[in-house]
Amino acid sequence: MKAIQVLDKAFVPFITASEIDRKIQEIADRINKAYSDKNPLFIAVLNGSFMFASDLFKKITIPAQISFIKLASYKGTTSTGNVITAIGLDESLKDRHIILLEDIIDTGKTLSEFLPQLWNQAPASLKIAALLTKPEALRHEVHADYTGFEIENRFVLGYGLDYDGYGRNLPELYQLKP
Ligand code: XMP
Ligand code: MG
Repeated sequence: MKAIQVLDKAFVPFITASEIDRKIQEIADRINKAYSDKNPLFIAVLNGSFMFASDLFKKITIPAQISFIKLASYKGTTSTGNVITAIGLDESLKDRHIILLEDIIDTGKTLSEFLPQLWNQAPASLKIAALLTKPEALRHEVHADYTGFEIENRFVLGYGLDYDGYGRNLPELYQLKP
C-alpha cells in the first residue's frame, strides 16, 4: 500500500484489508453468540456502510435478516435545526432485535437524532455496530456496542467511506495525510 491522491487531497495507508477482515470476524463471532436465538434484523445505514455490512453479514451464521436505509437530513421548522428521517425502512421493528450498522461515528450527531425514531417503533432491543469511532470527536450521547476500530480524529477514506463521492471502492482504509 502506498499514498494515494483523491481529488485535491493526499491520503496515506491506515488499516489493511486483512486487519479489517479480522476485526469484522471478531464482531461477527460476538453477534453470532449473543443473538443465536434472537433472529436479529440488521439495518445498514447507506451509503458508507455498504462494504462493512456486506462483509459482516457474510460472516453471520445464525438466522438473521438485513435491510438498508438512507438517512435524509432537511431543515426543520423548529429551532432544533435539521430533522433526520430514514428512507427505505419498510420492516416493522416492533419486538425485533435490531443491530444498526454504521461506517463511522464521528460527532454522534446523526445517530443521536435518529436513534429515538427507531426506539419509537418499540424494538425488543437496539444495538449499534460501527466499523470506526472517533472518541475525541464525540459530542453526543451515542455509544457503539460493537466497534471495529477506535481511531484518532482525522478524516478517513476507503472501504465504503468517501471523499466527495470517491474512494469508496478501496479495499483498505486510508487517512488524510497530516
Ligand atoms: P456524525 O458526526 O453525525 O457523522 O457522527 C457521521 C457521518 O459523517 C461522515 N463522516 C465521515 N466520512 N470519513 C468519511 O468518509 C470520515 O472520516 C468521516 N467522519 C464522519 C459519515 O458519513 C458518517 O456516517
Ligand atoms: Mg455514513
